[in-house]
Amino acid sequence: MPKILVTGGTGYIGSHTVVELQQVGYDVIVVDNLSNSNIEVLNGIENITGIRPDFENIDCTDYVNMDRMFEKHAGIEGVIHFAASKAVGESVEKPLLYYRNNLVSLMNLLQLMPIHNVKNIVFSSSCTVYGQPDELPVTENAPIKPALSPYGKTKQIGEDIIRDTIHADKFYKAIILRYFNPIGAHSSAKIGELPIGVPNNLLPFVTQTAIGIRKQLQVFGNDYNTPDGSCIRDYIHVVDLAKAHVVSIERMLKNKSKENLEIFNLGTGRGLSVLEIVNTFEKVNGVKVPYRIVDRREGDIEQVWADPSYANKVLGWKANETVEETLRSAWKWELNLERKAKES
Ligand code: NAD
Ligand code: WQD
Repeated sequence: MPKILVTGGTGYIGSHTVVELQQVGYDVIVVDNLSNSNIEVLNGIENITGIRPDFENIDCTDYVNMDRMFEKHAGIEGVIHFAASKAVGESVEKPLLYYRNNLVSLMNLLQLMPIHNVKNIVFSSSCTVYGQPDELPVTENAPIKPALSPYGKTKQIGEDIIRDTIHADKFYKAIILRYFNPIGAHSSAKIGELPIGVPNNLLPFVTQTAIGIRKQLQVFGNDYNTPDGSCIRDYIHVVDLAKAHVVSIERMLKNKSKENLEIFNLGTGRGLSVLEIVNTFEKVNGVKVPYRIVDRREGDIEQVWADPSYANKVLGWKANETVEETLRSAWKWELNLERKAKES
């Protein structure tokens, strides 16, 4: 089966994508510098699929070692590029780290791909490129708005780099996937979102509060112009998201599209508020999540959810998991983390 390079493959979305690729027979090589993940993730992947992916501990900003990696793993037919720094708040404090890490990594890949005859790339982008959309649900034709953080800018610039590179050289085929809010974990609870430091994102904070690691969830504002006053997002199961990457790679390997560049929104099309997520989490898992309403978080947009119909129709992909199942999987993962911590 074709060989696929997954950069950032021991990360949250990358590890779930490696599992889905292996389960349909792809031969996967993972490149990751472990800056925001742990080598243990490979054990989780192997426990699920029975196959330990080839792993190279390389920094994607390191051109020479990335070139050597392509030489060593000759015959790579596609790249799924997850490797990036992704903490919005940190990007405001350390913009140069984000521009260097996220853009040099991508440019190295794009420069090395034709040298090693690798035509296909899937790029991890984000609904953050839309800012606060003028219309909801948001389609791929929605205007790109000025990013509110250097992180968001790296996604917008990354998309432009790909667009301009393809305009100059039709050698490449690229699919840009704009993720909404990935949450949850693999049903086996052997992989999930790794808690490194204080979580920025809602779901890890909810699960850590429910299990007692955090005292109380802070809900950032309930004075928005939404039904219950809290912000609305499109929360998508990370496994549904992972499956979209398999479909995207297949689309390119099988030349199903005449286009050299395609862009898809990956969401459920369902907007849920922070309070709805908290209440549903408590209900489906039979636990309490103590919270209090605090001031709005700077940079938060009020509401965004996807119109996924283009991905549904053209990719033939749809998010299937219910929010209840997704929230159950997040809790099962947190419980497994606690069990592993007690055993170690
Ligand atoms: P993650 O931090 O869990 O995974 C990223 C992985 O990339 C980590 O394992 C990290 O060690 C690795 N990495 C970072 N810089 C690297 C480098 N220079 N060389 C090699 N490895 C490197 O993040 P994630 O949530 O899995 O996100 C994956 C991608 O999806 C990122 O590009 C992110 O911007 C994008 N994205 C994430 C979300 C989200 O909510 N998680 C939403 C939209 C887009
Ligand atoms: C979701 C909602 C918060 C934590 C971010 C990035 C985006 C992407 C996904 C990388 C918001 C509220 C959160 C908390 C809360 N990452 N919240 N208390 O902000 O939609 O998107 O992560 O690409 O680029 O911007 O996700 O999970 O941080 O927040 O009330 O402790 O939960 O205000 O409304 P967000 P999030």
